[in-house]
Amino acid sequence: MAKLINGKEVAASVRAKVKEETEKFTNETGIQVGLAVIIVGDNPASRIYVNNKKKACEEVGFKSYEYALPAETTQDELLELVRTLNNDETVHGILCQLPLPAHIDEKTVINEINPEKDVDAFHPVNVGKIMIGDYNFLPCTPAGCMELIHSTGISVKGKNCTVVGRSNIVGKPMAMLLLHESGTVTVCHSKTVDLKEECKRADILVAAVGVPKLIKGDMIKEGAVVIDVGMNRLPDGKLCGDVDFEQASEKASYITPVPGGVGPMTIAMLMKNTLTAAKNMAAKGK
Ligand code: GUN
Repeated sequence: MAKLINGKEVAASVRAKVKEETEKFTNETGIQVGLAVIIVGDNPASRIYVNNKKKACEEVGFKSYEYALPAETTQDELLELVRTLNNDETVHGILCQLPLPAHIDEKTVINEINPEKDVDAFHPVNVGKIMIGDYNFLPCTPAGCMELIHSTGISVKGKNCTVVGRSNIVGKPMAMLLLHESGTVTVCHSKTVDLKEECKRADILVAAVGVPKLIKGDMIKEGAVVIDVGMNRLPDGKLCGDVDFEQASEKASYITPVPGGVGPMTIAMLMKNTLTAAKNMAAKGK
């Protein structure tokens, strides 16, 4: 029977460390760390995420600035706000909650964020830095998954790692982070011919596709570490991951639950990135 990886606990310890370091940073520099969060429209899931981000800011001692814009906001208006925040020295991190309404091009907006304030690490400059292993920030969800893997005490080095999903936000950077730690990485997607075989080879399996319970027990190697990034809402209103938790728990050595696994880590890593941004700006005298 697999041991549970408790994301709530690991996330709380990351936030506690950020809080301690923030206190020290603020005492030494007189700078209060600021995170600006932009939300456009009224997507209920986005609203919950943004509220949780604000709560985490309070907990670690940051000032949070929320910009809740109506769904009809034009792309130009949003870009103007991003430029204003780029030039605001009380703001160290800028996060534009995705998805944006269909009439706004997400790429254009992300490209406008000053890479030094891009605490999501979505800007092409930051994506490129991650690729070459020379980064300031890691994207929050993959970085959170790495923390969870580290919490098991199992080393990635030399392990077969399978990532299911190739999104820019999770799958691709996740593969890169596993590679940086010398894992042998396979990335699976909708055109993968034999998903079961690819998964069964994995000592470390990360599922990030958004398909409820796609990964069944017979797709998991005995003793594997299973990280479930999925956050799917079932017709009965319950949340479930991309992994069939009941079945997978019979095979894995460690597994993340949904909820309470990867979810809380994303926000904890956002706090870490925002503090890093503030420290880097202070070091440059900005
Ligand atoms: N929407 C879902 N996840 C994320 C995230 O990590 N960052 C942003 N900006 N939007 C999201």
